[in-house]
Amino acid sequence: MTVHFIGAGPGAPDLLTLRGRDLIAACPVCLYAGSLVPEAVLAHCPPGARIINTAPLDLDAIMAEIAQAHAQGQDIARLHSGDLSVWSAMGEQLRRLRALDIPYTVTPGVPAFAAAAAALGSELTLPGVAQSLVLTRTSGRASAMPEHETLAGFAATRATLALHLSIQNLGQIVAELTPYYGPDCPVAIVWRASWPDQRIIRATLASVEAALPDGVTRTALILVGPALAATGFAESCLYAPDYDRRYRPQTAQSPWSEWKDGDD
Ligand SMILES: C[S@@+](CC[C@H](N)C(=O)[O-])C[C@H]1O[C@@H](n2cnc3c(N)ncnc32)[C@H](O)[C@@H]1O
Repeated sequence: MTVHFIGAGPGAPDLLTLRGRDLIAACPVCLYAGSLVPEAVLAHCPPGARIINTAPLDLDAIMAEIAQAHAQGQDIARLHSGDLSVWSAMGEQLRRLRALDIPYTVTPGVPAFAAAAAALGSELTLPGVAQSLVLTRTSGRASAMPEHETLAGFAATRATLALHLSIQNLGQIVAELTPYYGPDCPVAIVWRASWPDQRIIRATLASVEAALPDGVTRTALILVGPALAATGFAESCLYAPDYDRRYRPQTAQSPWSEWKDGDD
């Protein structure tokens, strides 16, 4: 018996990996985080599967479901939204599974920040503008930020920021970021990226609070940084005609000219 943790993606049911889909179809038990995992993903469960929404359960109750399936030798598909590497609560479940010696696998999913960038048609790391992306959040009721992870600290790098779980703190975000990025810095809010009712708000740090429509709450990602509206950025060397590289040696003297597939 194995618990298969599966990233269910940002909302659109077809943004699920083939591996994730096949695991869901093979498991007689499915535990899903109902607050964000789309119901349509559950259509991949086999007929007669035991399907449990874990949104109203606490960790002990979730572990009781897992223990029950374990006792019956039934594999579990454990679905969380987006990818499992960020804000999925997978870590605490894995810790308990390890203690109980219950096997598990982890299948990644499309994270919300990637779906939001796709909706915007944006690359978040542009040459000479931003080469780092910070996935972060502000303090919430359930989780305080560790002391050293401050918005000001991240903002000092002027990297692109992807702020999760924070739309309710937009005023605080604007106040803390403006001294570093300036009032004209582009901001994009993507609400329910990849859902049928997805909404995009483009603004600046100075205008974003006034631009936020009613109803844009909870499932929203706030992206901040000059990369969101940059047009005059340099082209990367990768595709420059005269860039000498392994896959496109420029001369017979190139260090790459002797390179063959399999070398490195
Ligand atoms: C508990 S976290 C889950 C993050 C998820 N594990 C991931 O990989 O993106 C929930 C937060 O992610 C963001 N989020 C999740 N799905 C989203 C979507 N479809 N559109 C915009 N933001 C989303 C929101 O900031 C939301 O508050």
